[in-house]
Amino acid sequence: MPWDPTQYHKFQAERSAPFFDLLALIEVRTNLKVVDLGCGTGELTRHLADALPNSNVTGIDNSPQMLDAARAASLSSPGPSTLPSVVRTSLRFEQGDQSQLTGEWDLIFSNAALQWSENHSELIPYLYQRLTPGGQIAVQVPSNHNHISHQIYRETASEEMFKFILNGFQRYAPVLSIDDYARILFKSGAENIVVFEKVYAHILEDSNAVVEWISGTALVPYFERLGEYKDEFVRVIREKMRAAMPDSPVFYPFRRTFFSARKPG
Ligand SMILES: C[S@@+](CC[C@H](N)C(=O)[O-])C[C@H]1O[C@@H](n2cnc3c(N)ncnc32)[C@H](O)[C@@H]1O
Repeated sequence: MPWDPTQYHKFQAERSAPFFDLLALIEVRTNLKVVDLGCGTGELTRHLADALPNSNVTGIDNSPQMLDAARAASLSSPGPSTLPSVVRTSLRFEQGDQSQLTGEWDLIFSNAALQWSENHSELIPYLYQRLTPGGQIAVQVPSNHNHISHQIYRETASEEMFKFILNGFQRYAPVLSIDDYARILFKSGAENIVVFEKVYAHILEDSNAVVEWISGTALVPYFERLGEYKDEFVRVIREKMRAAMPDSPVFYPFRRTFFSARKPG
């Protein structure tokens, strides 16, 4: 999918808050082999690496555009040389599919990315199996798919003209309920299971800002298929969004699911 780093970064402050809530769930240890699945442009992976002394952190993403942005920001260079060698952590980025992760990891971390891979009932146990004994998995995925902003673009995509252009394409988030994640982790044999949902109370300028927000994420697979009709699709969505969310500023509650667990050591 053609991700656009500039569009994605328009709400960087709002998007990074859940990352820090996820980071707070990490049991900090030294000498960890860490993977950040769907690392995107890598700034947050750098924060993760900075929090884990003397570790090896790999960011994996399947988007060349996002990885180019990560490398352009020199995020894979080691920390400042003034740091004592004991806290130095290596950070590198690789292109790959998060659902095909191989190898063994002490920490599997993923912020706002696993929702792009299907079938979590199989994916989460598969990732869990990639943990070393004592290893931790920590994931955050958006669970806002029933909000009116998402209903509006799905409804627009099913209008006759767009349905034809999109060849009937719709994308439904594969995100499960928090009970399901807890059950899957328990059945996998995990301990220290923590699962919760949090609503972030975003206040954006107006309904256009909500359209900008979803243009950086949920609409990406639609844009890929719309070609020259992308602008018309966005225009229709803007109109419907204005009618549904007329306030300025507009309150945009955003629901996110967190889960973390440890493999017995
Ligand atoms: C919403 S961004 C999150 C980026 C970063 N983790 C953050 O918190 O800012 C989602 C990222 O997942 C990546 N992605 C989507 N599907 C993927 C897959 N199957 N394998 C690896 N990366 C994937 C996208 O390229 C994108 O960079």
